[in-house]
Amino acid sequence: MHRNIRKGVQKIIYPMKFRTAFTASVLIAPISAFSVPRRSPFSQSFTARNMASTTFPTWSFDKPNAAMEWNDVLDVTMSSASASGTVDLLVIGVSPPAKAEKEEEDDDDEEEEEATNKEPEPIALTGSAKSLDDDLSGALTDMLKDHAKSFKNGATVGGTTPTLRVASSTAKRIVLMGLGPEKDDKDWTNAGMALGNAVAAKCKAEPKVASCRVILPEAVTGNATTVRDFSTAFYQALYADNRYKSGSNVKKVAEALKSITLTTDGSDAVADAAAIEQGRSIARGIFLCKDIVNAPHNVLNSLSLADTARRIVEESGGSLQCKILNKDECEARGMGSFLGVARGSETEPQFIHITYKPKGEINSKVGVIGKGLLFDTGGYNIKTAMMEMMKFDCGGAAAVLGAARAIGALQPEGVEAHFCVAACENMISDRAAVPSDILTASNGKTIEVMNTDAEGRLTLADALVYADKEIGCEKIIELSTLTGACMISLGKSLAGVWTLNDGLAEEIANISKVTGDKSWRMPMAMEYNDQLESKFADMKNIGGRYGGAITAALFLQKFVSKKKPFAHIDIAGPVWSDKESMATGYGTKLVTEWVCRQGKKAE
Ligand code: BES
Ligand code: MN
Ligand code: ZN
Repeated sequence: MHRNIRKGVQKIIYPMKFRTAFTASVLIAPISAFSVPRRSPFSQSFTARNMASTTFPTWSFDKPNAAMEWNDVLDVTMSSASASGTVDLLVIGVSPPAKAEKEEEDDDDEEEEEATNKEPEPIALTGSAKSLDDDLSGALTDMLKDHAKSFKNGATVGGTTPTLRVASSTAKRIVLMGLGPEKDDKDWTNAGMALGNAVAAKCKAEPKVASCRVILPEAVTGNATTVRDFSTAFYQALYADNRYKSGSNVKKVAEALKSITLTTDGSDAVADAAAIEQGRSIARGIFLCKDIVNAPHNVLNSLSLADTARRIVEESGGSLQCKILNKDECEARGMGSFLGVARGSETEPQFIHITYKPKGEINSKVGVIGKGLLFDTGGYNIKTAMMEMMKFDCGGAAAVLGAARAIGALQPEGVEAHFCVAACENMISDRAAVPSDILTASNGKTIEVMNTDAEGRLTLADALVYADKEIGCEKIIELSTLTGACMISLGKSLAGVWTLNDGLAEEIANISKVTGDKSWRMPMAMEYNDQLESKFADMKNIGGRYGGAITAALFLQKFVSKKKPFAHIDIAGPVWSDKESMATGYGTKLVTEWVCRQGKKAE
């Protein structure tokens, strides 16, 4: 079958023997889909909103991979302002009284049980919530009483009551949101995220809401980090991927929403526009991360990922630079390990290198590497289970490019950052590597490919050598959907972290805590190194049956200078949400925060 496109008119020529078999209607059906003009990868971004009226541009036989479209954050204005005027949805943050009020402790277990079954004392409303309650003849207090238990009396940060519909000059709908127990030294770490997510969820559940106000105590809105996190969480929670849907299948999210106002109760409003904008930039990085992971291979291959990188750099308006090495340039550097994986694909591999340089002095020069397998069939050691999930095998690259986008906008001081992805596909063809092949990496080390499905580490080996030796990064972190074994160990919500450097381990652990991109340090069990010994080459690409995530980490360590701080982060679990059948955006926040912190001078 051969397809010809000329001036947007589709002509389908079938070989003679098929022609009689097709009726006219069969031939007409696909024509309209093919006559849609292809969009340029650099054209303005397509939001979920305007996708409804367009048709997904399908492929042509010879160029099956068009540009990947981007979803952009909803066009909702977030600002910080004092309460005035009517809004569609009013969210009021409330805190239960401090624990101290708990009645005299009695050691009797039964009695304690009784006490927990007892309705909790409802929260007393204060400030503007109190006057609103008075206007509504105590409707808010009634709601608190009715829902004290399921609302956990406000003790869960981000927990909400059902929506109360009212006729008021302040709001049409009101929701009370828990802020956790009141404390003088309230630590608001993570509160911004929980609240932003919860407010977004309410806006999603009330699709007619056009304006929303969130009243929070000054301790929350007066804290720039909390406001930034609120903004990130709010925008990113409204992600929807309608790029490949048409007509009534398009699922719109909070489509009427135009504005959201953060209001501080009982004091002057804190106008923290910068923090809101920063949060939005991070959310845009997360959007891109999700877009990359969600895109299937016939839309996103190594070439279109390289185009995506160029677009990130173009969008940054000069704060980012990019260099993309083609097959020959990789070959000139001796990247035989990476190219050995790439060889089976019809698409040329692309080595993506984005650089961020700060305006002032540079305190550190760091590298961030992401595994960029746009698809992993397993190669000749073909996958027999869940191959359809392997579009997410570019999750590391997605996190890294999402972070590059965020860093380009945030422009942190003091850090020079390099974002690298060795992009390719692990496919089967007569050119593809076969088990027992010996590849030579760019540091001269030879690798016996015992299993073509352990391909990620092969691509990463050359990327690590490049970041270490050619760029000269002083510190390197690397994210990859590397092993099913890591997912078996840590489950779906945690990434595994392997590093020989305790300082770096601590940095990542701390960043995990504040970003919610969870991780757990795993052992670099050096005694397992003998599993990687090869009869014919310097090493094999797989270890034995057990500890597969550890031997993968040991393999990677061989491609970074001994003393250089290096961490491998296996994100095979958290990259994808099975519940939502959707990319999670994992890693963008972690990398962004890590890069920002590298700019700060050590005390
Ligand atoms: N991309 C996979 C890892 C993976 C598998 C992530 C399943 C998430 C879910 C990787 O390239 C791979 O295939 N790893 C093999 C390694 C093995 C052959 C040593 C694995 O984990 O099975
Ligand atoms: Mn694999
Ligand atoms: Zn893989």
